[in-house]
Amino acid sequence: MNKQTEEFMSKLTLPPTGWAEVGKPHPHESAVLHVTGEATYTDDIVELQGTLHAALGLSQKAHAKIRSIDLAKVKASPGVVAVFTADDIPGENECGAIIHDDPVLADGLVQYVGQPIFIVIADSHDNARRGARQAVIDYEELDPILTPRAAHAAKSYVLPPMHLTRGTPAEAFAKAPHKLQGKFDVGGQEQFYLEGQISYAIPKEGRGMHVYCSTQHPSEMQHHIAHVLHVSSHDVLVECRRMGGGFGGKESQSALWACAAAVAAVRLRRPIKLRADRDDDMIVTGKRHCFAYDYEIGYDDNGRIMAAKIDMVSRAGFSADLSGPVATRAVCHFDNAYYLSDVEIHAMCGKTNTQSNTAFRGFGGPQGAIAIEYIVDEIARNLGKDSLEVRRANFYGMSDAEGPDARNVTHYGQKVEDNVIHGLVDQLERTSDYQARRRAINEFNAANTVLKKGMALTPVKFGISFNVPHLNQAGSLVHVYTDGSVLVNHGGTEMGQGLNTKVAQVVANALGLPLERVRCTATDTSKVANTSATAASTGSDLNGKAAQDAALQIRARLAQVAAKRFEVDASEVRFADGLVIAGEQSVAFPDLVMQAYLQRVQLWSDGFYSTPRVHWDSKSMTGHPFFYYAYAAAVAEVVIDTLTGEWRLLQADLLYDAGESLNPALDVGQVEGGFIQGMGWLTTEELWWNKDGKLMTHAPSTYKIPAISDCPARFRTELYKNSNVSDTIHRSKAVGEPPLLLPFSVLLAIRDAVSAVGEHRVNPPLRSPATSEAILDAVDAVRAAVVTQ
Ligand code: MTE
Ligand code: MOS
Repeated sequence: MNKQTEEFMSKLTLPPTGWAEVGKPHPHESAVLHVTGEATYTDDIVELQGTLHAALGLSQKAHAKIRSIDLAKVKASPGVVAVFTADDIPGENECGAIIHDDPVLADGLVQYVGQPIFIVIADSHDNARRGARQAVIDYEELDPILTPRAAHAAKSYVLPPMHLTRGTPAEAFAKAPHKLQGKFDVGGQEQFYLEGQISYAIPKEGRGMHVYCSTQHPSEMQHHIAHVLHVSSHDVLVECRRMGGGFGGKESQSALWACAAAVAAVRLRRPIKLRADRDDDMIVTGKRHCFAYDYEIGYDDNGRIMAAKIDMVSRAGFSADLSGPVATRAVCHFDNAYYLSDVEIHAMCGKTNTQSNTAFRGFGGPQGAIAIEYIVDEIARNLGKDSLEVRRANFYGMSDAEGPDARNVTHYGQKVEDNVIHGLVDQLERTSDYQARRRAINEFNAANTVLKKGMALTPVKFGISFNVPHLNQAGSLVHVYTDGSVLVNHGGTEMGQGLNTKVAQVVANALGLPLERVRCTATDTSKVANTSATAASTGSDLNGKAAQDAALQIRARLAQVAAKRFEVDASEVRFADGLVIAGEQSVAFPDLVMQAYLQRVQLWSDGFYSTPRVHWDSKSMTGHPFFYYAYAAAVAEVVIDTLTGEWRLLQADLLYDAGESLNPALDVGQVEGGFIQGMGWLTTEELWWNKDGKLMTHAPSTYKIPAISDCPARFRTELYKNSNVSDTIHRSKAVGEPPLLLPFSVLLAIRDAVSAVGEHRVNPPLRSPATSEAILDAVDAVRAAVVTQ
């Protein structure tokens, strides 16, 4: 620790430590390293002698055959050492996550502007990038498809369409007293991790390859690298200490960077670093899928939905990547918190000549749920009701005369057994003072013509587990050293969310140690094998349980040693406060560990966990895909300027069900961060491709993510007091993704404010992202509609 760090540490008030380490608001284990700049990201790793730098040569066309490539000028460019194309890949030219339709380097055909065609290796990062621009490529242009609606019209899909029907929608429509029909589009979103994609590949003796990679999925990177190099998995080691954010963007799409660096490293037998510049990162990699919806809804006088039909088309981009599972999650979250008795969903992954879209916090869940929230908002306006009333009428599991067991099976057949949405929303309505503020907003709007206020309360129900059952497994490796310190390795990756802190808390708790005695190492494919991506918010659920399993095995062995020493039964031995205790007797943990070592007792253990109960039939789209649900709700209040389209979030009240939170400080951080990130998606973050399919918003100059100044002045986040019905790690609940759905309240508060322009008589056609331009368009549309009424 340097002096600066020491000073910083001394000013931090760390919570008191004790044996019960879970449930405490410990700071992130790397907090000090983060803020002092000491934390090692992949680009900070000390470079080995002989390291060279790589850059990718990118397609300038959205869809074209490559007639010829002239690389003479690239090779002659200052500092350039070598250039590699698809022909130089020793193994398979392929890095698709599920389907094999994703070449590392384009071979004969380019399918989007930005698709990598060749790798340039030079003595410096800048020289590699300069060289990459010198290629002369002769293209034979083909017609591109650029939007999801255009892809749908052309029946251009990366995967077969998915269908889910429950009940008899046609009959239900016929009975419904009210109907509505509409279209809605929601934009995509760039992950905008602060640390861009990066890999540093180091050739080792024989076939060995060690790749440091900023990735959420080290095991998959290991497998891809083995395939492109035509070696076995045991020849490849992938390591990730931490990411400067992943947000889903490094779940599958770190593969291109890992594979390209490894190919160059094996060809030149030199260490190769490939770090994407921000513009290249945004132009090359996939983002959140934008979605286009066409819906038809039947409902009764209370706003209760009787029948629903929706077509959703996503912009998959040129390849499948994770678009299939993303669409599945969208289908499974179309209900959000609402019971849909009779429903028909068709989901299509539109093949477009754009970046191959991928995971992004929520993984299609937000895109499924936003549609029903937009619809419920319309129903409420059509009936002249407060939207909160209509939401309540549709919630799962009514506590009224219908009984608690009515209306509690999802459209995909899973019974909702842990529903807390009623109590949670009631609490938030009270604590946010919803009703009084609604009256104040109505008064404000009656008195003001230029500024209009709006408010919305939106709920969240989010399924936790990978939809693909076999991914719900995890492993760990725990070492206790003879000084009593503990080292933990697990298959999860740290991306800022605090996974390593939570896992260390779990292990400390199991061994009765203060947290500082436990340290998590970098994620490393040679320590825990065949891991799943750290994704679907399951990181602490899976790896926490796996690490606990390992720690408890060690504890059981140590308890035997202590039992002999104290002459008691092993069941009487407790581990607390750094001591091992039986009745009046105790021994310091390190002393007992040393005694165990001298008795030749194994002081390390592996651990394993697989989530029980989950199953899924992808053909019928039914099953029990989620171990449990996380619930939440938010109230947002905004003000808009109807002359400029500018707006501000005035207040946000968030309530999140983290079960028995493992770490309330981290969880509150995740809820706040997810909320603001989702608000960016729905408001200011606009991806814009020109008519030739070139992404023009490829840097923060043109792509506006929220900043600290966009946080509301009144920002209140609370955790809902609850305990997980399912047997998760210490009865906690996942927290990574569900908060991203909370800012639906912001979008619908803006819509409410726009609606006030027409005294709530017409549904504003507000598109998302609700940029100032979109808000102005919606205001104009409302004014025009009111005039013609
Ligand atoms: N928080 C930070 N700070 N950085 C991230 O990259 N990724 C999110 C979420 N929170 C992310 C984050 C996403 S997409 C997921 S799936 C979860 O964290 C993954 O971590 P967990 O499963 O441990 O919650
Ligand atoms: Mo998160 S989108 O599941 O990586």
